Parts: sequence; structure tokens; C-alpha cells
Amino acid sequence: MPFCYLNFPSARDDLLADVLAGLAACPKSIPPKYFYDEAGCQLFEAICRQPEYALCRIEQALMASRLGDIAAATGGVDCIVEPGAGDCMKVRRLLEVLRPSQLVVMDIAGNALATAAEKLAVDYPGVAITAIGMDFVHDLEAAAPHFSSGRRLVYYPGSSIGNFSPAEVAGLLARFRKLAGDNGLLLIGFDLKKDPELLHRAYNDAAGVTAAFNLNLLARLNRELGADFDLSRFRHYAFYNPVEGRIEMHLVSLEDQLVHVSGKGFQFNSGETLHTENSYKFRCDEFSKIAKTAGWDLSGEWEKDGFGVQLYA
Ligand code: AVI
Repeated sequence: MPFCYLNFPSARDDLLADVLAGLAACPKSIPPKYFYDEAGCQLFEAICRQPEYALCRIEQALMASRLGDIAAATGGVDCIVEPGAGDCMKVRRLLEVLRPSQLVVMDIAGNALATAAEKLAVDYPGVAITAIGMDFVHDLEAAAPHFSSGRRLVYYPGSSIGNFSPAEVAGLLARFRKLAGDNGLLLIGFDLKKDPELLHRAYNDAAGVTAAFNLNLLARLNRELGADFDLSRFRHYAFYNPVEGRIEMHLVSLEDQLVHVSGKGFQFNSGETLHTENSYKFRCDEFSKIAKTAGWDLSGEWEKDGFGVQLYA
């Protein structure tokens, strides 16, 4: 079966513009999608192996134990679409049970995606695989011409949806709705609200992997944009904000300092933070309410140890 890799290279240009805009804003912030350069992807995989960060393991256990029910609830699909597919590991289980004729995977980290998708093509020769290196949040609609006809399932696991604000979630789910088409489906996994102490530990692992992941963002800006961040003058800071229902990750400036990016100077005061990520946690009913506004009707729901998976039609 054919394997095809396409690259829609808008992401590289956005990095500089987004970083300059984010550093000029008050409070300072950088979109979390920029965590995922090669080193960032590896660090994220290492986070998923930390004992405190159980999210990925629980989701996989849930998927393994409920796969039959989930597959039956879909009623069969011809094409699986996975935005933000990363190392393409999660979709393997679905390929085995749903046996679609086509899989379309997208990720901003195009090289890593191409390598992972090529392995999938070897392991699943009956599935036509299209891998697209793209920032799907910008360009999702540009992928549509590459889908075959038939019933589509948009698969969005791993609580990646939690990295968007509730308003952005509604917007993104509405775009998934359009992409899936009238008879399409959405299978989505998200982290549930739970004891804040557990959440705090998950984003402050003892081995310091999450801290390294957060700081790698500055290292990336030094590498790719010639910035001069001194990583020893910033510290990882993550906490649960119960009012917003989200983990917030920041990098705190440990002193007054001036940092340069692409010839522009940015002043950081001691204690000022660069906000790098929100990770929203939901209740199942909260999430289905948002999904409803985006045109999705709940048709199945599974829960395990503080993680939820929902199927929508
Ligand atoms: C990718 N995303 C769902 C992760 C999360 O939990 O929000 C990213 C992450 N950030 C710190 N640890 C993991």
C-alpha cells in the first residue's frame, strides 16, 4: 500500500513571529506547540515514562481494556485521521481493530512523524498511510484533499486537547466536525479533574524531566533563532490553578535580565514568568457540553483512574 509524506512548512516561519509577539506581551508567553523540536519530542516521551506522569499509561491501559467496546461503538470506519500523531504509537491499537483503508497522520514535528509513519506502513501494509508535517492548528483544512472518501474517524488522544483554552477547544472541535463530515466520528482522550496534589506531582517529577522539557524551549530558541537565554537564570514552575481547572507551566526569571532574540531585547524582571503551557483538566460532562456546541453528540464514554475517553458522532 502507498506511503506518502507531505510537508507543509509554515511552522518554521511562525516560530520567530510567535516568539517575538509572545515576549513583547504582558504577561510573556510562548505557545506550547514549540516544545516539540527533536529534543522536546524525546523529553516528552521521557515524561511519559516518569512514575508521577501516569496520563499516557492510563489512557493506553483504558484503550487496551475497552478496545472491543470502542470499536463496536464506532460501527466501522474507512479512514482514521490523527492530528498531532507524534510517534504514531497510540493509533496502532485502533488500526488493528478498526482496519481502515486509510490513515492520515499530522504533526508539527515533521521529520519524527515521517520516520514513525514509515514504520507503520511496514507494519500495516493493508493501510494507505499519508503523513503530513504541518501545524494542524493553522492548516488543518489544507489536509482535507488528501483524505479518501468514506467514513472518517478523527482520533485525538493523549489529552492534547487540554493544551487549548475552552474557547479554543470549541473552535478546534468544530473544525474536526467539518473535517470528519456529517457521518464522521471523533474519539478523544482527556485528563480528568482530580486531587491537585497528584496533578502537581505529575508536572514536577522528581527526576526533573518536565523541568528539562520546559527549559528546552529556551534552548530551542537559542539554537534556532540565535537567542541568548541563559538557562541557569530560569526555573521551571508548574502548579494547578483550581479556578481555571488547569496546570500552568511557567519559566521564572531568577533575576533581572535582558535577553535578545533576533536582535530585539526583552527585559525580564526577577520573579517575572514566561508562561509556556496550560494543561486543562475536565469533568466528562463539562467536556461533552463543549463538544455539543461544536456539533458533536456523545455516543460513548469510558473512564479509568482519572482519565476519560469519549466517542462522538
Ligand atoms: C501533550 N500534553 C498533553 C502534555 C500535558 O500533559 O499537557 C504536555 C506536557 N507538559 C508537561 N508534561 C506533559
